[in-house]
Amino acid sequence: MAVNGGAHQDYNRLDEVKQFDDSKIGVKGLVDSGLTSLPRMFIHPKGALSDLKSVARTESQVIPTIDLSGVDSDRRPAIVEQVSNACRKLGFFQIMNHGLPLDVMNRTIAAVKGFHELPTEVKKQWYRRGINTGVAFFSNVDLYKAKAASWRDTIQVKLGPAPAEAEEIPEMCRNEIVEWIQQASQLAEILMELLCEGLGLNVGRLKEMTCLESKVLLGHYYPHCPQPDLTFGIPSHTDPGVLTLLLQDHIGGLQVKHGVEWVEVKPIPGALVVNIGDIFQILSNDEYKSVDHRVLANPSPGPRVSVAIFFTAGNRDRLYGPIPELVSPEKPALYRQFMLDDYMTRFFTKDLADKTLTDYYRT
Ligand code: OGA
Ligand code: NI
Repeated sequence: MAVNGGAHQDYNRLDEVKQFDDSKIGVKGLVDSGLTSLPRMFIHPKGALSDLKSVARTESQVIPTIDLSGVDSDRRPAIVEQVSNACRKLGFFQIMNHGLPLDVMNRTIAAVKGFHELPTEVKKQWYRRGINTGVAFFSNVDLYKAKAASWRDTIQVKLGPAPAEAEEIPEMCRNEIVEWIQQASQLAEILMELLCEGLGLNVGRLKEMTCLESKVLLGHYYPHCPQPDLTFGIPSHTDPGVLTLLLQDHIGGLQVKHGVEWVEVKPIPGALVVNIGDIFQILSNDEYKSVDHRVLANPSPGPRVSVAIFFTAGNRDRLYGPIPELVSPEKPALYRQFMLDDYMTRFFTKDLADKTLTDYYRT
């Protein structure tokens, strides 16, 4: 008799990943199917999971919440200083009184949640992996590159340089997303001005470098995870762009690396989270920090929803590097110049959890 163990004896990760991807049901679909343990493709290596519990206790002191009220009054210098300190030390801060109405924030979260909770058969029509344009629904942007998948689904809306048409956005969340983009982009311009001032640059310096032109919105949905100690919502990574503006709901789970500890970014009603991306760290010649952050797999019974907008430079074929005003004999350029296209290609061909790209361009 032939001894043939059969293919199922050897775990074939790619088969499992492909089957999941082809099903187009996302992690939400797995949870809906009643599964109580994680498919193997979602289980992260022990090493990556080893510091899941190393959370700082003094977190409320560490990630500052900055009050933006009176940003055009004589409070501005104090605000600039707080923002600048946060970017230099932690790369993350929250903002309050930023002018975006609470009901608009709540509606945006509800709309993204509503999209992910559409019947799978309806939602499937947006499922795809070629995501340079338009609107796409997918689970795990780096599904085929990551060593392990994570417990989240995402709807992505490309906002620039070639924005999706409003009609491409699923009708059930269209008005809310369009409104959010419009309001959040205005706020991003104000933030970039503050961040420029914090570096001693002209207020319009980032805008002039087209940093408001390229943007993408990600509406994440982190369903309840039956075994949250075995996976992540998003593994540790840095954001690639210039600046990220994040709206999160009340569930929590976002953590920022500070020294050897992970610091929670506590949900605060009405607050928004801001963080520096790799490109801004490079532009600022390391004055501002792009830091590692992650989202734990969601242990709570209900889903967690967050909506991130990533701003980056729109001009793909000009050279970027440390801004000349920030380079001097005392502070030589820490990075060589590069094309943004080269950078983005490298970013999207890597495992999100792998080392950040800043070191690649370091002199
Ligand atoms: C991201 C990210 C955090 C969150 O999308 O890059 O870090 O809370 N998201 O969803
Ligand atoms: Ni991120």
